Amino acid sequence: MCGIIGHVGTGNALETLLTGLENLEYRGYDSAGVAVQNGSGIAVQKRSGKVEELKESIRDAHLEGCVGIGHTRWSTHGPPTDTNAHPHTDETTDVAVVHNGIIENYAELREWLCTRGHEFTSDTDTEVIPHLIQYYLDEGSESEAAFRRAIDELEGSYAVTAMISGEHVLYAARKGSPLVVGVEDDEFFLASDVPAFLEYTDSVVYLEDGDVVIVDDGGVEFTDLEGNPVTRDPETVDWDPEQAGKGGYDHFMLKEIHEQPTSLAQAVEGRIDPENGRIALENFESGTFEGVESVQLVACGTSYHAALYGSLALNQAGIRSKALLANEYSVSAPPVDDDTLVVAVTQSGETADTLNALRRAARAGARTLTVTNVVGSTAAREADDALFIRAGPEIGVAATKTFSSQVVMLTLLAQRIADDCLGAPPADLEMLLPELARLPGTIETVLEQSDAAAVASRFQECQSYFFIGRGLGYPVALEGALKFKEITYEHAEGFASGELKHGPLALVTPETPVFAIFTGQEDEKTLKNAEEAQTRGAPVVAVCPDDHRAVDIADAHLKIPETDADISGLLANVQLQLVSYHAADLLDRPIDKPRNLAKSVTVE
Ligand code: M6R
Repeated sequence: MCGIIGHVGTGNALETLLTGLENLEYRGYDSAGVAVQNGSGIAVQKRSGKVEELKESIRDAHLEGCVGIGHTRWSTHGPPTDTNAHPHTDETTDVAVVHNGIIENYAELREWLCTRGHEFTSDTDTEVIPHLIQYYLDEGSESEAAFRRAIDELEGSYAVTAMISGEHVLYAARKGSPLVVGVEDDEFFLASDVPAFLEYTDSVVYLEDGDVVIVDDGGVEFTDLEGNPVTRDPETVDWDPEQAGKGGYDHFMLKEIHEQPTSLAQAVEGRIDPENGRIALENFESGTFEGVESVQLVACGTSYHAALYGSLALNQAGIRSKALLANEYSVSAPPVDDDTLVVAVTQSGETADTLNALRRAARAGARTLTVTNVVGSTAAREADDALFIRAGPEIGVAATKTFSSQVVMLTLLAQRIADDCLGAPPADLEMLLPELARLPGTIETVLEQSDAAAVASRFQECQSYFFIGRGLGYPVALEGALKFKEITYEHAEGFASGELKHGPLALVTPETPVFAIFTGQEDEKTLKNAEEAQTRGAPVVAVCPDDHRAVDIADAHLKIPETDADISGLLANVQLQLVSYHAADLLDRPIDKPRNLAKSVTVE
């Protein structure tokens, strides 16, 4: 889950590398570094901490050259120290390498190299790569052959970019970790993800597992590991750099919360026909899901909450379904057969746990589908089919707009599956689709009128924050709590409303505000549960429409417009996103980069 950037061009590479690293910091921010061909060899500058600190340290370094690589790290092997930061080199700094992924056989390779006189300085798995390349160079291999031979030795997952002293060339390879190439005239970029170089180009080639590319002044050569040419066509991405920047907001998270009207409009565009009560999902023709007997949704974190929402929607539509934590799937997967559809829900499409669950399901014979934000991601490519949520780049580590787009996508998918499998569209489609078409406007209203900042301030000094919901409100309660704890570092928990009385009520005090989510599904029971907490001293914050009965008893109110119960939770979720954001802002937390976390978790 680290970020890689590489540049070969005509101008000074350093600026491009640093911009790329800043754009990639959401992938990890334990340490950062760059290496540049500076005319007399490879110059490396790296240190623990954020890219900002690297920039400070670089002021006096001589790092001029038009070929370079950079890296921002989320530690897996070894703590986030200066030494463990990438790029890594051999002893002579003739070879520099940046790497994302895990080299599973690094211990054996390291030992093998040590017995041949190589000395290591870091705790990382990555350091074996420059040493291996150097070993094969010393043996007499040409640079490209030495790179290929080194890559051939690696077991595990990697996106690797390497440079060799004195050459205007970058060598790169991908297996199990993402790597993309950007091209703009005679400027070439390599990166873990597109936002790294969006300022410079929107022309992108997504590499496949097993690809090896050689980038020099003349262009990019795409090959397989043996050196046979492969064809990789460029695609134009419709994300612009401004979209990937903060756009005037203090934080990416706030910007992304406010982007939801747009991202949700994109999610449903061309997919719903409210007038005729129809859903059209690209190449999923009517009848595509016929024969599906049950659906398993696998995901982690926020995506798991969206998956849970989707599975409840499927069950309510009459389709047997279960959401499962992808990291538990290997030990607790329910049986699958070819009538089982397994849906991987993943914003990045690169989450290792989710990819493993997807692969396990495919091996067991299930039909697979990925719901993701990232075209060209591993999950999108490995599943039988993919559906894209079209949310645009999400930079804040805390997922916001992608959750709501996932929920909308899964809601549409649930209806489509039910339609195909049960032979008739579920009864409420004619109610739901017009509300989905109105959803961007309804969310705009929530954003404009929200009292979340005042509510966050009022309960700022509390000890613990509880979130309760029932039915489709339950995953929203879980997501509300995750968002709150993730960015405020305060204790927060989500519960099914009915569960409070089975234990958690023991924790309730005047210092534990309870955010009660009312989505129109058995609201009277949720109201009773909220009152039970209130009787024991907890302040209740009702998240519900203006004329709801809960407003009369609540200590505070976060207003949502009336809408279809199938999507009402999304409006509540926006209010809860804002509460978390403002609470974290009052505490002066690093909202876009909460401690210990990373946007894309590519390790198990
Ligand atoms: O990229 P994914 O959706 O697969 O990521 C899964 C989780 O790591 C992610 O949803 C995480 O929980 C959120 N960033 C938290 O806000």
